[in-house]
Amino acid sequence: MASAGLIKCAILILALVARANAIHIYLDWNVNLDTTIQPVSMDQPVITINGMFPGPLINATTNDFVHVNVFNNMDEPLLFTWNGIEQRLNSWQDGVSGTNCPILPGTNWTYVFQTKDQIGSFFYFPSINFHKAAGGFGPIRVINRNVIAVPFPKPEAEFDLLIGDWSYDSYKATRSLMSTIETAYYVLPDIMLMNGKGPLDNPMSIDFESFNVTQGKTYRLRISNVGTALSFNFRIQNHQMVLVETEGSYTNHITLDSLDVHVGQSYSVLVTANQNEADYYMVASPKMLNTSDFSSLVGIGVLHYSNSVSTVGGPLPDGPDPFDLDFSLVQARSIRWNLTAGAARPNPQGTFNVSNVTLSQTFILESSVAQLQNLPRYVVNNVSYYTLTTPLKLADHFVNGSGVYQLDSFPVKSVNTNASYGVSVVTGIHKGWLEIVFKNNLDAMDSWHLDGFGFYVVGFGIGDWTTESRSTYNLYDPVVRSTVQVYPGAWTAVYAFLDNPGMWNLRSQLLKHWYLGQELYVRVHDDDPNPAKERPPPENLLLCGIFSESPPGPAPGPWTG
Ligand SMILES: *[C@@H]1O[C@H](CO)[C@@H](O)[C@H](O)[C@H]1NC(C)=O
Ligand SMILES: *[C@@H]1O[C@H](CO)[C@@H](O)[C@H](O)[C@H]1NC(C)=O
Ligand SMILES: *[C@@H]1O[C@H](CO)[C@@H](O)[C@H](O)[C@H]1NC(C)=O
Ligand SMILES: *[C@@H]1O[C@H](CO)[C@@H](O)[C@H](O)[C@H]1NC(C)=O
Ligand SMILES: *[C@@H]1O[C@H](CO)[C@@H](O)[C@H](O)[C@H]1NC(C)=O
Ligand SMILES: *[C@@H]1O[C@H](CO)[C@@H](O)[C@H](O)[C@H]1NC(C)=O
Ligand SMILES: *[C@@H]1O[C@H](CO)[C@@H](O)[C@H](O)[C@H]1NC(C)=O
Ligand SMILES: *[C@@H]1O[C@H](CO)[C@@H](O)[C@H](O)[C@H]1NC(C)=O
Ligand SMILES: *[C@@H]1O[C@H](CO)[C@@H](O)[C@H](O)[C@H]1NC(C)=O
Ligand SMILES: *[C@@H]1O[C@H](CO)[C@@H](O)[C@H](O)[C@H]1NC(C)=O
Repeated sequence: MASAGLIKCAILILALVARANAIHIYLDWNVNLDTTIQPVSMDQPVITINGMFPGPLINATTNDFVHVNVFNNMDEPLLFTWNGIEQRLNSWQDGVSGTNCPILPGTNWTYVFQTKDQIGSFFYFPSINFHKAAGGFGPIRVINRNVIAVPFPKPEAEFDLLIGDWSYDSYKATRSLMSTIETAYYVLPDIMLMNGKGPLDNPMSIDFESFNVTQGKTYRLRISNVGTALSFNFRIQNHQMVLVETEGSYTNHITLDSLDVHVGQSYSVLVTANQNEADYYMVASPKMLNTSDFSSLVGIGVLHYSNSVSTVGGPLPDGPDPFDLDFSLVQARSIRWNLTAGAARPNPQGTFNVSNVTLSQTFILESSVAQLQNLPRYVVNNVSYYTLTTPLKLADHFVNGSGVYQLDSFPVKSVNTNASYGVSVVTGIHKGWLEIVFKNNLDAMDSWHLDGFGFYVVGFGIGDWTTESRSTYNLYDPVVRSTVQVYPGAWTAVYAFLDNPGMWNLRSQLLKHWYLGQELYVRVHDDDPNPAKERPPPENLLLCGIFSESPPGPAPGPWTG
């Protein structure tokens, strides 16, 4: 038996190793509205980062600090958000309109955030002014620390695969369609891009995406849906995929012929090049659309074997019927958390399970459309979020919200009898378990995301949710992820543990829904001002809205003089 002294020594060394592992990553991003890059044969502006579309990979390890100095060379205010990065105790860096003043044209601002206690595949994107429709997105990997084993053999290589719908119009033109009822609800994207490239053999494509593989080797594909509106089904001709990870959780391994990916979601799959030396189609076909009428919306790339002797051929691999919700639901329910796998922390994932938790709060959020003052809007419980020029987080910090928002003024368990605008900020009880039931009254797919936390995805159901629906929940091994789909005419239930104080955006990931009001904020607050509970504002805090002249009261930043 080892002596207590030896054990202490070993623990100390481990602690030192873990500490030495957390490094600082410094990135300079020049963000431009680029008119020379052409994803498709159209003259349209594309948001590039250091000339790249998609933007550069952020390659971090658990607990690293990432500094991103963003130079806004565009003609409009800009913010980036880090989809799925939890920003522990630090909603100051979240980069949405409720937490940050925008980075003005011709200026720069540095985000500093930590990938605290996280692993997995994520992506970033510009969060305001409909910019996401013009690009500006890119992959984020958070890789395991060396001391924690990854629950599958090391792949030969990894590929980031950002897939999303795209429009031929400029984002400003598409954005202007959002202001009239006749156009907003009906606008559809035109084409599907894979890593910024159009479908193979499409007359509009300039290039197509291709991955080189060696026969016999296994690869990890980190697939994200970076689009604005469409869910897709992804598959590779003659190949199966093993699902291993979703937005920061290792899943039980399941072997799939195809995988549904909804807007804002990320997955890792393993693909073994176990076929003849040839080229194979990679396909992403939209859900809820008849693809024979919308063939450009089928993304097509190539899996190229290094000694391939033939080009791709034959029909595209068949996927499920795009209208078959049952297929998608069954697959969604089969995605389970691997309770024994380690991830970001030394304990196995299952240590943090929900099998026996007491709920502190329930939100029941119904999504639909409404017309307000003759404008097209999306509503949650008949409230359409009204975006302020003063970030809620600043108002919270300086004046306890006063004059900017009124906490809990809009219902989270019932629907207003009249639709209205509202600055909806709701209390989330610190360290309480929150149950959220998302109901989708629309005839389109939706997906929801909460910044700051992971969702434990406990249930999906068609039709109405009632308290009896809880008996169908999977409380044993629900997967934890940051974005969850809600099927048309259906509900999705999640739990979240609100251990992360801050001002957190709860939103539809569909760009149009979000832009037109389908969002709210959850304020998780603890009266203890101990900064170990929530970080003070950063020194480079930007001021705007009612605080643009001078911030009230004593403030910790350099502007106090
Ligand atoms: C990401 O970072 C890890 C650790 O520093 C390194 O081993 C790996 O090669 C990097 N990957 C890429 C694609 O840069
Ligand atoms: C702007 O960039 C410069 C370096 O070019 C840096 O020193 C400065 O801190 C940045 N400003 C902000 C607000 O991040
Ligand atoms: C992929 O393979 C093709 C031909 O086999 C080769 O021309 C190309 O350079 C390779 N690309 C990469 C990124 O290795
Ligand atoms: C799709 O449309 C084609 C013709 O446009 C039709 O033949 C086919 O039945 C439709 N498929 C579905 C699933 O609706
Ligand atoms: C879960 O992860 C462990 C590694 O910790 C692995 O051995 C096991 O096969 C995984 N289980 C499933 C069902 O994938
Ligand atoms: C869930 O966590 C509790 C408390 O840590 C533990 O007793 C239980 O075994 C866990 N359940 C599973 C399925 O791992
Ligand atoms: C589970 O909950 C019950 C009461 O609801 C409680 O008595 C029990 O101690 C809990 N078990 C764990 C492992 O937390
Ligand atoms: C801040 O506002 C909330 C209500 O929004 C109130 O309950 C609380 O007492 C206020 N705190 C202070 C310090 O004024
Ligand atoms: C939502 O508001 C609209 C009018 O603005 C009303 O017709 C509708 O009945 C409301 N929805 C519910 C469920 O009350
Ligand atoms: C809802 O709108 C109707 C028609 O404008 C109005 O008569 C009614 O008083 C409103 N109800 C509420 C609760 O505001």
